[in-house]
Amino acid sequence: MAYKNQYAILTKGLTKQYGQALAVNGLDLSIEPGQFYGLLGPNGAGKSTTIHMLTTMTSASSGEAWIAGREVKRYPVQTRALVGLVFQDSALDRMMTVDENLQFAAALYNLNKQQAEQRIAELLSVFGLEKKRHQKLVALSGGQRRAVDIARGVLHKPQVLFLDEPTIGLDLPNRRSIWRFIEQLRKDEGMTVFLTTHYLEEAEACDHVDFIQKGQLQKGGAPKKLIKNLAAYMLEIDCADTEVVSQQMRPQFGEPLWEDQHLTYRIQDKETDFYQLQKTLGNAVNAMQWRKPNLNDVYLWTVCPPDYGVVT
Ligand SMILES: Nc1ncnc2c1ncn2[C@@H]1O[C@H](COP(=O)(O)OP(=O)(O)OP(=O)(O)O)[C@@H](O)[C@H]1O
Ligand SMILES: [Mg+2]
Repeated sequence: MAYKNQYAILTKGLTKQYGQALAVNGLDLSIEPGQFYGLLGPNGAGKSTTIHMLTTMTSASSGEAWIAGREVKRYPVQTRALVGLVFQDSALDRMMTVDENLQFAAALYNLNKQQAEQRIAELLSVFGLEKKRHQKLVALSGGQRRAVDIARGVLHKPQVLFLDEPTIGLDLPNRRSIWRFIEQLRKDEGMTVFLTTHYLEEAEACDHVDFIQKGQLQKGGAPKKLIKNLAAYMLEIDCADTEVVSQQMRPQFGEPLWEDQHLTYRIQDKETDFYQLQKTLGNAVNAMQWRKPNLNDVYLWTVCPPDYGVVT
């Protein structure tokens, strides 16, 4: 069993069934210590369910999981000490102060008074929240509340931190601040981070991302590599006549992603002459632009490729 210790997270055939529905179907994951891992997928794909199984919030229907070499099912108490969890929905009491919320969590983690005091002070300093310590959460901004949620999740210095959509609903400056804090924690404490997010530009910082859809894992890779492998350019065309454009494009460029009058093509050939192409398509085109691909493109082409149908 020694090899299991090599991984921060290891799962074999991890499955969760709710009635007839398979929320997570035979998941095999192997995530190394210190990795920044992202699990990406549409609403209802099984991301939170996966996190809940790995953090003992819910039991697996079948399959196995290990956190830092300990089997989750056999050692739930040890698992809870090893993991930190920032929930998709806040776990804080808004009518309590920042300090009260964190002291309460510290007691749950069995930190003694001195340890709690030291750790809370340390984290409030990282998050720049020292002055808010004795304010009720209702008086804080969304970004500050989220920071307290993260502080709560890492109070006990977990080896593996699960972040379930940590920046959902936050504006851009707050999202950036939250990521600075998380980066700081990764640097200071070497935590393995397991992230789910719908903001794919945030997931570009991951070492590795996989995709999940209807409970089924689709293996991904390093974001930079996935982006490079997807295409040299993405070509977006606003069509006056989609039939004409798609017919003319098909022999050389295949099928596009199709959204009403807007078609997106993957262009593999770096030397493609877009000006010439624009001339050839002529009046069938209203507007045309080409750009470098990003992780959002990888996601769309993985989760709903051209033959997949309508995005739900
Ligand atoms: N307690 C439950 N009882 C029954 N079905 C559930 C339960 N929790 C989740 N599900 C179902 O399991 C599936 C996966 O849900 P899950 O919350 O894991 O998705 P998700 O990927 O986290 O989605 P989102 O991006 O919306 O957060 C969904 O079809 C959901 O309806
Ligand atoms: Mg979820």
